[in-house]
This record gives sequence, structure tokens and C-alpha cells, in this order.
Amino acid sequence: MPERIDVHNHFLPRLDDGCSTISESFTCIGAMRNAGYRRFFLTPHTGPTDMCSIRPEESIEHFHAFTAAARQAAIDAEFKIGGEVRLSQELLSRRDLSLAVTYGITSRYCLVDLWEPDWPRWADETIDWLISHGRIVVLAHPERMPIMQNYPALMDRLAERGVLFQGNLGPLGGSELPAITQLAESFLRQGRYFMLGSDCHRPSHLAARMAGLDRAIELVGGEKVDELTCHNPALIWNSC
Ligand SMILES: [Fe+2]
Repeated sequence: MPERIDVHNHFLPRLDDGCSTISESFTCIGAMRNAGYRRFFLTPHTGPTDMCSIRPEESIEHFHAFTAAARQAAIDAEFKIGGEVRLSQELLSRRDLSLAVTYGITSRYCLVDLWEPDWPRWADETIDWLISHGRIVVLAHPERMPIMQNYPALMDRLAERGVLFQGNLGPLGGSELPAITQLAESFLRQGRYFMLGSDCHRPSHLAARMAGLDRAIELVGGEKVDELTCHNPALIWNSC
């Protein structure tokens, strides 16, 4: 079986709302190792806004301390830094590309999320700004966004502009409301996702994520899930 790569998690401890200790991080990584994951992009919330106001330098500093600890603890896994960039008006008005951190820092792929319940015009403008600077925008967990429930054509509009979609394993494993699970299942069946990620924050999240992986295989088969958790993530991993 090819090795899986997790493309979205909050395992860097004491940085955002993710793991609060390194032992929690190692517990999460150990459980995912058992499910075939060996490479991890660590993607703390980032950007200029509210609780996401973690600067890339800060993430990188935490990342180096983390990988040193993982080496010392003989954790058999590889790590690269990334970030989950919150789209915001402030990000757009600052137009500071260094805040829009990419996977591995040197790749073109930028994982973004949006917290607003609707789709404000500045979200499109921010995505256009990122694309115009060579970024490949990956929208995190569209199934969790209320706008996607009410206005599914938005996904087509974004896909036409080259936006890729990262689904979360949690809803597939029943961690969210049934409407979100349904949407995740239909996006998966329709082939909308480019990748699946755990978006795991802490050990209590693990069971649903791992159940989500099994459910994804049940829905679309092992080969398709390998594409979404191994092959497509490897395109990013190998580009940085
Ligand atoms: Fe996240």
C-alpha cells in the first residue's frame, strides 16, 4: 500500500487550537501511522486575523523544535511545514504574500479556509490575488461551508478558476451534522476533491477521522482514496 500523506492537521503543539502538548501530537501521529500515514504537512492556522494571527516565522520556529523532538523520540515519520491561511479582508488589504504561506513554504500550493457563512466578494478578490501571484489555491473543507449547501454552483465557479478542494475525513466518519456528512459524501462520489485531510486537532478527533478513511474507501474504493491521500498529496510534497 502506498504511504499516505496528511495534508491538513493541527499537530504543531501550543500554537493554535490544535494539540496542546507534544505528547498529544505524538499520540495523533502514532494513530495515523497505524492507518498508513508516514508523511505529514503540519498546517497551523495562519494569516493576519484574530486567532489566526500566527506569522509564518513563528510556525517555522515551532516546526524546527517539533521535528527535533520527533527525532529524539524516534518517531518514524517525515514532516513539512505548511499553514491553513484564513481568507480575510485584512489579508487582502495588506497584500503581503508572505502571510499566505504555502505547503512546504516553497511550493505553489496554498491551503485556505473561509470562516464567513456566506461568500463575500473579497473572498473572490483574495483568491484572484493569490492566483495572479502564481499560487495554486486549495480550499479546505468546502463541505463545512454553509454557502456550498445553498449554492453548489460556487464550486464549479471556483474549479473553473483552478481552485482545488480538500475534503475532511471527519464528516465522512460522522464528526459533523448529517447535512455536512451528506455533502462530503456527495463531493467525494462526484470526484470534487483533490485531496482528503484529517484536520485533526487532538486525540479525541482521531476515531472519527480514521472511521472517515474507512468510509471513504467504502464509498469510492481504495484506489480512489489512494489518489486523494497518497498520489495527489505527493505532487505537492515532491514540489517543495
Ligand atoms: Fe484546520
